[in-house]
Parts: sequence; structure tokens; C-alpha cells
Amino acid sequence: MAEETKRSAIIREGEIEKAYGNKKPRILSGMRPTGKLHIGHFAGALEPWVKLQSVAENFHLIADYHVLTTKLDTSDIAQLSLDMAIDWIAFGIDPEKSPIFRQSKIKEHAELFLIFAMLITKARLERNPAVKEQVRDLDIGEGMSFGHLGYPVLQAADILLYKGDLVPVGEDQLPHVEMTREFARDFNNHYGKVFPIPSAYLSETPRLPGTDGNRMSKSIGNTILLSDTPEDTWKKMKSAVTDPQKIRRNDPGRPEICLVYGYHQKWNPGEVNQIHAGCSSGELGCVDCKKKVTEKLNESFAPQRAKRSELAKDPGAVLDIIEQGEIRARGEAEKTIQAVRSAMNLG
Ligand code: TRP
Repeated sequence: MAEETKRSAIIREGEIEKAYGNKKPRILSGMRPTGKLHIGHFAGALEPWVKLQSVAENFHLIADYHVLTTKLDTSDIAQLSLDMAIDWIAFGIDPEKSPIFRQSKIKEHAELFLIFAMLITKARLERNPAVKEQVRDLDIGEGMSFGHLGYPVLQAADILLYKGDLVPVGEDQLPHVEMTREFARDFNNHYGKVFPIPSAYLSETPRLPGTDGNRMSKSIGNTILLSDTPEDTWKKMKSAVTDPQKIRRNDPGRPEICLVYGYHQKWNPGEVNQIHAGCSSGELGCVDCKKKVTEKLNESFAPQRAKRSELAKDPGAVLDIIEQGEIRARGEAEKTIQAVRSAMNLG
């Protein structure tokens, strides 16, 4: 049995060396460009990606075609992509090492999507739990576009075009990686081995709720942005909900149900015990507690935010960086498509 068919479908933080030995795995990570990123994107995706740069070869995809599945208005797509790339670079992605590129600039995504579309049934796509969820959440009923139903087909093409071994994702994306594995196996069975069977990579990041306690999301307006000024950060933190039972400053609180305590765990790990004790006993009021964590967060982000402002002043230079990444990505994509065409006798 080939080594990779034995590799598990999910690889967790800290397991890379065990799984790949001295071979650096190829990582394909991607996000839909929704503009400026928030601290949830950082903790859940960007920070793990940055760490992975030392143990893997990373490719970073700006999934601008995927945006069309839920939003046909493309008037701001260029700006959204640029803003996201600026955050990626400012917060630690080294584009010299790890190319950053736009999906729509590499035509081979569309070509592989078309071929993969032939390998999957409509019924399989409709069974995808992410599709069911979106039909419900977006209340689209029968109105889902063909392209939206094919979301995971395009995602599989994104990953396999670069022969990705590992795909860093949140739990919600696991069904997509599972389908990518199916595409790789099916293709290889029909036409001969071209693709590796990729695994999902799960990092150990607790989910950070938004400042209102709900899932952090730009559309809800409960986010703290990586690009926020220290003052904006404080303004948002100040309004964050805390334990509703802690009404007066000296009332004892329950840190384990408080989102601000969750932020302390992430940005103030050295003092969590003190914070926990202070909140539980009532000695620490919510305003002071929020001040403390805001200071820590602002302090830790200061260098990246400074770099971000610099980058934002010269969008042309950032675009050049992306275009350089696209040259590298295109080189890989062209090689893979050649192998695909030749395996399929398409010349
Ligand atoms: N579906 C991913 C998301 O919503 C974005 C994405 C598109 C992606 N293509 C990808 C992620 C390939 C990883 C690999 O965040």
C-alpha cells in the first residue's frame, strides 16, 4: 500500500513530523476574500499558517471565485483580496517563501473544476452537510446555483492542482477535505496516479466568540479587526458582553462563561490564573479586566499593525508581491494540468 493511503484523514497540531518524516508536506490553505480579517481569523487560521511555514511548504490561495457562490456583486473584489493579502503578510506570511495568489488568475482552477465535475454525482453534492447548512442559513431553498452546489468541486481543484498534502481547516470544513480525498482517489483509479491523497490539518485553537458572544462575523458587527487601532480595539472591547450575573463591579463573576476571559487565555496567558481568581472573587471589575486584555492584545499586535499600515500605503507593491506568487503558483498548476491531460489522453 502506498505510504500516503495509510496517512490519516486528519492530522493534528504536532503530528506533522511523525506523518511526513523529513519530507516537507505541501500545504494548500485558502480563504474567501471578505476584506480585513478579524482576531478570530488570526487565532483560527492565520496564526497556524504562520507557524506551519517552518515545517511545510505553504501555498496561500485567495479564493475569489468562491465568493461568487454567495455574492455576485464583484465591485469590491479587488479591494477585498488586497486587504486580506495585506493582513496575511503583515501578520507573518512570508510571501518569498509562501506564494500568495488569486484563484481567478490561474486558469487551471477552472479546467480542473470542469474535469472533477464529471467525476461526482449530483446526489453526492447534495448530501454534503455544508450545502444543507447553507440552504438553511441563507434560506435559499431551491435557489442554489450550480456553482454554489459545486463549491467543494472547486475547492478540491484548488487543493489538488498544487498537489497539496495538507489542508489547514476548521472542523466545519472537514467534509470538503473528505470530498477532496474522494476526487483524488477517483481520478487516480480512472486515469492513473496523478494526485496525492490529502489530509486535513487541525490546529488546537479554541473558537473565539465575537464581542456579543455570538460567532465572530463581520456581518454581525461583533469583530475586532487585526487592522483596528488600539483605540478602536478598546471601544469594541469595552462594549463586550460579560457574565450577566456580574452586575456591580464587586459581584463575583464566572470566567468560564465569559468571552473576555477567553480573550485573556489567548492574549494574556501569563496572568490567566490571577484574572480567574480576581473575577471569581469579585475583586476584579469587568472594566479593568477588559482594559488589561486590550492592553495585551494591542501590545502583541503593535509590530504587525505597524507593518500593516506601511503595506497599506503602497498597494501597488502588494499587488506585485501577489503577482510574483501567481507566477510560482501558475508554474505548479500548469505542471499538474499537463499530467492530468496526459493521464486522460487529452494531449
Ligand atoms: N472554503 C474555504 C473557506 O470558506 C476557502 C477555500 C477555498 C479553501 N478553497 C480552499 C480552503 C482550498 C482551503 C483549501 O474558508
